[in-house]
Amino acid sequence: VSGNNVPAPARRDIVSIDDLTNEEVLGLFKAADGFHQRLSTSADTCPGSILATLFFEPSTRTRLSFESAMHRLGGDVIPVADPSTTSAAKGESLADTVRVVGGSYADILVLRHPDEGAALVAARYAKVPVVNAGDGAHEHPTQTLCDLYTLWKEKGELEGLDVVLCGDLRYSRTIHSFAYALARFRANIVTVPYPGFELPDYVVEKLKRDRGVETSKVEIGELASMAGRADAAYFTPHKPHQLSLFTKFSSNEVKKFDAIYMTRAQKERHGGESTDNYPKIDRSKLAGAKFKETRVMHPLPRVDEISYDLDQDPRAVYFRQAELGVPIRMALIAFLLGKLKLPRGFKVERPPSHRNPVGLRCGNARCVVNREAARYLVPEFQVRAASPLQVSCVFCDREAVVPVIGDSSTRRYGAPREMRDRDENLVYFASEEQAREAGYEHVG
Ligand code: NCD
Repeated sequence: VSGNNVPAPARRDIVSIDDLTNEEVLGLFKAADGFHQRLSTSADTCPGSILATLFFEPSTRTRLSFESAMHRLGGDVIPVADPSTTSAAKGESLADTVRVVGGSYADILVLRHPDEGAALVAARYAKVPVVNAGDGAHEHPTQTLCDLYTLWKEKGELEGLDVVLCGDLRYSRTIHSFAYALARFRANIVTVPYPGFELPDYVVEKLKRDRGVETSKVEIGELASMAGRADAAYFTPHKPHQLSLFTKFSSNEVKKFDAIYMTRAQKERHGGESTDNYPKIDRSKLAGAKFKETRVMHPLPRVDEISYDLDQDPRAVYFRQAELGVPIRMALIAFLLGKLKLPRGFKVERPPSHRNPVGLRCGNARCVVNREAARYLVPEFQVRAASPLQVSCVFCDREAVVPVIGDSSTRRYGAPREMRDRDENLVYFASEEQAREAGYEHVG
């Protein structure tokens, strides 16, 4: 950590865990170790800087640990814990709010919002770094930093661990960011979902497409009793030298579990589904040899999915995760404010995005582009595969196949293979009917 005279890096936002490289993540861990030693003597790191917390959903740990981290770095905090007290309650848009708060009011902005993709919108309109503290069911990258940091300290490394993700994998944003990061560190992931709450297809696709992760069924033995049924999947990073060992994935047995990551049913995002027989961990379920070195993790808050009888067990690390939230967030804030330099490492760049004013819309009703931001945002997609043409929403990552494309200069439409590829003029359509309604004629 250096003093005030380090030149500020280009502005960085943390919207997704993929906005940080592996090298940067490991660099943050080392810095966090230092801050942990000097929790109350680091106030010379960010004096005079202001952090704003804008929380449009409930929070205890995330908001308070960010605010504590900023105080401990010597900075100041302007918090919004109750959005009903802000102009959002008068109908102000997210864009307008962050334009002001993420301008002269604060030097860094931490946002929690119910809409998927809201953090990206904030990052576009704010003039200062934006940190995603949870955008609906989409991502929660700084919780993932706490989770990875805890696992790294407990296990000494992250490469090649066997990690079980258990519970509501569909609506848990912590699970999504954690899965992306684990895949990047070449961990094997076993999913034990509450039935009906499996990892969303777009998350599985992203793991496959961006990280070369292979999926298969796996026998999970003892874990089955925890989840009520044994519908587990095994996600393993593509390791060419090992493939021959795993020709028959279905008979693959996991030999030990390095960690079990449990999450509560994200009821606030459910449509009233029953969550009877939701998985629950207690000491008796962790009796087998495979669990000897298992760390039990949870982002908290816990409801009933981890028995209180586990709290004294040395394998339970969920309160440690919460505790480490302060030093890791100190490191992240110092980095984003240019007070900490990190090795950059290799980053997978996102494909260019394509604005789509009249045609295809994001099919996710919870995506920010279909919510209040529909007033000022247009749908925007990235090409993910050429044939069939597959795109994903820039804001929420949901995928869609594009059956029809148009050329806005000729106002013709056709199947993607019939159209000449002139990117700046392309418009994606969900159907021929939609193309005709927009005033396009068939190319033929
Ligand atoms: C999580 C969240 O908000 O997504 N909480 C947290 O930040 N520690 C998990 C949850 O609410 O279940």
